[in-house]
Amino acid sequence: MAAANPLPPGSSGLPLVGETLQFAKDPFAFIRQRRARFGDVFRTSILGKPTVFIAGPQRAGLWLDPTKVQREGAMPANLLALFGGDPDIVPLLDGEAHAQRKRSLLAAFSPEAIEAYLPGLQARIEGLLAKWLANREGPVTADLKTLAIESLAGAIFGLEPGEELSRLLADNAILASAFVALPIGLPGTAYSKGLQARDRILALLEKIAQRHIDAPPARPDGLARILSAAREAGAPLDAKTAAREMHHFLLAGMIVYAELAATLRALHENPDVCERLRAEVLANAPSGPIGPARLRAMPYLMQVVDEVKRTCPNVPMSFGRAKCAIDVAGYTIPQGHLVMMAVYESNLDPIFTAPEKFDPERFSPERDEKKRAPDAFMPQGAGALTFHKCAGYDFATVMMQLFAALALRTATWDLPSQDLSLKWVVPPEHKSGLVVRWSKAAGAAGQG
Ligand code: HEM
Repeated sequence: MAAANPLPPGSSGLPLVGETLQFAKDPFAFIRQRRARFGDVFRTSILGKPTVFIAGPQRAGLWLDPTKVQREGAMPANLLALFGGDPDIVPLLDGEAHAQRKRSLLAAFSPEAIEAYLPGLQARIEGLLAKWLANREGPVTADLKTLAIESLAGAIFGLEPGEELSRLLADNAILASAFVALPIGLPGTAYSKGLQARDRILALLEKIAQRHIDAPPARPDGLARILSAAREAGAPLDAKTAAREMHHFLLAGMIVYAELAATLRALHENPDVCERLRAEVLANAPSGPIGPARLRAMPYLMQVVDEVKRTCPNVPMSFGRAKCAIDVAGYTIPQGHLVMMAVYESNLDPIFTAPEKFDPERFSPERDEKKRAPDAFMPQGAGALTFHKCAGYDFATVMMQLFAALALRTATWDLPSQDLSLKWVVPPEHKSGLVVRWSKAAGAAGQG
């Protein structure tokens, strides 16, 4: 009986602030330390909200049970404001409303849609590699952020370089600063500048959505596919709603840049993996366009991408709220408590052999550690794609595959001496900006 159980172990911290400051300093370490101390289910209080974290693939079933965990009311108001201020966005919808919206959004990530994005993604990545090779040495983080936003904006809503894209990039940078600022809405604070940037971004995206509604592009981009899927399902999206979803897409999707940085670092730090992967790429895609068939022909590339996804600290948690009192592990989570699924911590669960080690072999057909539990591998959320798992799962995968393959066939690189520690924001980034030294790969055509 629910009422007989104690609250999960943990601390509510100080009155009002709870443990917000410790959490904000480094959410990844916060979760790691408390899980080590209290176990897979622990209690805290963040931004005045009683909160329970659950960690580990074995607990994913609970997180995925819609009778127990809902999305409505799960996102703190300061974050919701930056995401557009209206909870009518896919991560915060439940039940049929979510299922319907998600079906429409996933039209932007069908195999056919992804295939259509590949040439544009390849051209952008090749352009960046050529620039890095010409410069020979420099920090890559800022360029990777730009690459991520430009790639999404190009593929999903057809935005090519120009005034609108430049504004979008500048305003997203202002918004990113607001995510790590104290949520104080006074004039001149980073947070209130972020809210102003959000308004400009939403206005621009609404204009783009309206253009798509009035005159769909001849060759459908992701947004055209979404709008048409929603229309066909009898639930057309208006320009304001489409703009909010696109704003969420950009914020949720740009974090792929952290995975690209982690790829460069992991391949530098693991020369055997790097050379085995380079050999696979040179055997299967030595030059020219890399389409789906070539990507499928490189199984080791997929293993490396999966291992980067598992080991790259990116998302600390996903947001939920207890729909009812939830009994778990001998404790009861009261109704209304926030319930957060610890994502990165679950990537490092002992369900994996030597979880701290970068070891793509764990995903070989012989070992296949993903099979150790239904949701053992959940770096982009647990469960089905039609539920709340990351809509951009395949987009992130192909972007990482292309980036690694193109870099390996074009260049060799190393990381000159620098401070490789991370700033523990979301997603964490290298304090040094990740300085990389580039050389043209032996036999690479047309670069440098
Ligand atoms: C490797 C990079 C990425 C990581 C680590 C990541 C991670 C996540 C996580 C942990 C969730 C929450 C799942 C849940 O609530 O259960 C999520 C949701 C989502 N992501 Fe990603 N993501 C990535 C890339 C992308 C990209 C490129 C897009 C493209 C637009 C995207 C769009 C979304 C959307 C729309 C949702 C909400 C899905 C829903 O609630 O139904 N993400 N992602």
